[in-house]
Amino acid sequence: MIRACLLLLLLPTVACSDDSAPASAQEPDGPKLFVSKNCSTCHGPKHEGTFMAPPLAKLNLHWNAEDLAGFLKEPNVWKQKTPRLAEHAKHYRSPMPPMFGTDEERRTLAEWLLTLP
Ligand code: HEC
Repeated sequence: MIRACLLLLLLPTVACSDDSAPASAQEPDGPKLFVSKNCSTCHGPKHEGTFMAPPLAKLNLHWNAEDLAGFLKEPNVWKQKTPRLAEHAKHYRSPMPPMFGTDEERRTLAEWLLTLP
């Protein structure tokens, strides 16, 4: 119920900004980037995890936005200095690839990832 109300509140806002801003000036948003940057291919469409990659949940226990954006840019660097990630990596066939895109896109995606329950 709460979720439904939130959606109703958010939808008009999204619709308005879509109408008023030219495509290039729109803020990219987290869920869209998650799909367009192929994160969902490995982590699953609902970031539930697959045999390719771990579930993405409660990331705020381990990350802040700046570090997480840095990880998306250079996952290997972070894997080397973070035993927890190195341990994750052992269970998956291919490593997490760097995310191509702008710093702003990585930051937007990181901030959204941190809100996942
Ligand atoms: C080729 C499959 C693949 C793709 C594509 C991929 N990942 Fe990953 N990701 C992994 C694997 C495997 C790990 C575990 C660490 C490692 O092996 O590098 C991981 C780890 C992570 C973590 C750390 C999880 C934790 O517990 O701290 C985050 C966050 C993450 N990925 C987000 C993303 C995002 C956002 C994208 C899209 C930009 C993405 N991943 C694309 C495979 C992938």
